[in-house]
Amino acid sequence: MKITVIGAGHVGEVTTQRIVDQELAQEVVLVDIIEGIPQGKGLDIFESTPIGGTDVKVVGTNDYEPTADSDIIVMTAGMPRKPGMSRDDLLQANTNIVQSCVEKAAPLSPNAIIIMVANPLDVMTYVAYKLSGFPKHRVFGMAGILDTARYRAFIAEALDVSVRDISAIVMGGHGDSMVPLPRYTTIAGVPLAQFMSQDKIDAIVERTRKGGGEIVAHLKTGSAYYAPSAAAVEMVDAIVNNKRRILPCSAWLEGEYGLNDVYVGVPVKLGRNGIIEVVEVQLTDEEKAALHKSANGVKENIAKLSL
Ligand code: NAI
Ligand code: 2OP
Repeated sequence: MKITVIGAGHVGEVTTQRIVDQELAQEVVLVDIIEGIPQGKGLDIFESTPIGGTDVKVVGTNDYEPTADSDIIVMTAGMPRKPGMSRDDLLQANTNIVQSCVEKAAPLSPNAIIIMVANPLDVMTYVAYKLSGFPKHRVFGMAGILDTARYRAFIAEALDVSVRDISAIVMGGHGDSMVPLPRYTTIAGVPLAQFMSQDKIDAIVERTRKGGGEIVAHLKTGSAYYAPSAAAVEMVDAIVNNKRRILPCSAWLEGEYGLNDVYVGVPVKLGRNGIIEVVEVQLTDEEKAALHKSANGVKENIAKLSL
C-alpha cells in the first residue's frame, strides 16, 4: 500500500503522521510546492517510526515522480479560510491549486483512489473527478465524517456520555447548509429525542453547522486540522482494510436522493476499491428539501467553474 498526501500544511502533516502511527501503508509520499517543507516534515515523521514501532517509509518531495503507482491520494493542498471568509471564498484559488496537483498526480497513479480534502470540498471533489478522468467510485471527498464527529462530540459533552455510544449522520454539502439528522441519531441505540429537548438539539445542530467557523474564529490564522485529519484517515483505514464501513462522504450522485450530477455528502459503503454503493436512507420531505437546498448550492458553484 502506497499513499500520497498532497499538501504538507496542517492537514497534510497530521494526516501523514496518523497514517504512519496506524501503519496503514508501507510508504507515504508527502508533496508540497514549498521547497524543503515536505522534505523536512517527512523526515521528522519518519524519525518518529522507531518510537511508534511502525515500519513506514516517508518520502518528502516537491516532485510527482516519487508518487507514481500510489493506491490512495489524499489531496489537502489548498488555502484554508481566515476569519470572515466562507469556504466558497476559496473557490477560484483552490480550483487552480487542485487542478495543477491532480493533473500531475493522476496520470502517474492511474489506479489510485482520490480522497479530496481541500475546500470548498464538494466542488473541489468535482474538479478532481473531472480532471483525473477516474471513475466516480474512486473520487470522493472528506467532510461528512468531520461534521458528524463534531455533532457527536457536542452531544456526548451535553449528555455526559461516551462519544462511542453516539451514532449519527450529517449529510449535505460541507457548508453552513449541511444537514445533521437528529431523527437518525441514537445514544446506545435509543433515539436522541428521549435524552434531549428539541431546543437543545436545535442548538447542537446549529453549532455543528458553524463548527468549522468556530475553530477559525479561535485560530485566526487558518482552520481546523486535528479532527479533519482524523476523519480523512478513517476513510483511508476503511479502504486499506476493506472494512465496508458506512460513512458520510461527498459522492457523485446519479439519481440517488433524486439528485443528479453533483457531489454532496451522503452515506456510502467504503471498501478496498473505494465506494461500493451509495446508501439511500429514507428522508422526510423536510430533510429531503434541506439536502436538495444544500446540493443546489454546490451546483451553483460548479457552474462557476471553467475547467
Ligand atoms: P495549510 O495552509 O496549512 O496547508 C496547505 C498546503 O498546501 C501548504 O503547505 C501549501 O504550501 C500547499 N500548497 C499550496 N499550493 C500547492 C500546490 N500547487 N501544490 C502542492 N502544495 C500546495 O492549510 P490546511 O489547514 O492544511 O488546509 C488545507 C485545505 O484543506 C484547505 O483548503 C482547507 O480549507 C481544507 N480543509 C478541509 C476540510 C474538510 O472538512 N474537507 C477540513 C480542514 C481543512
Ligand atoms: C472545517 O470544517 C476547514 O472545512 C474545514 O473545519
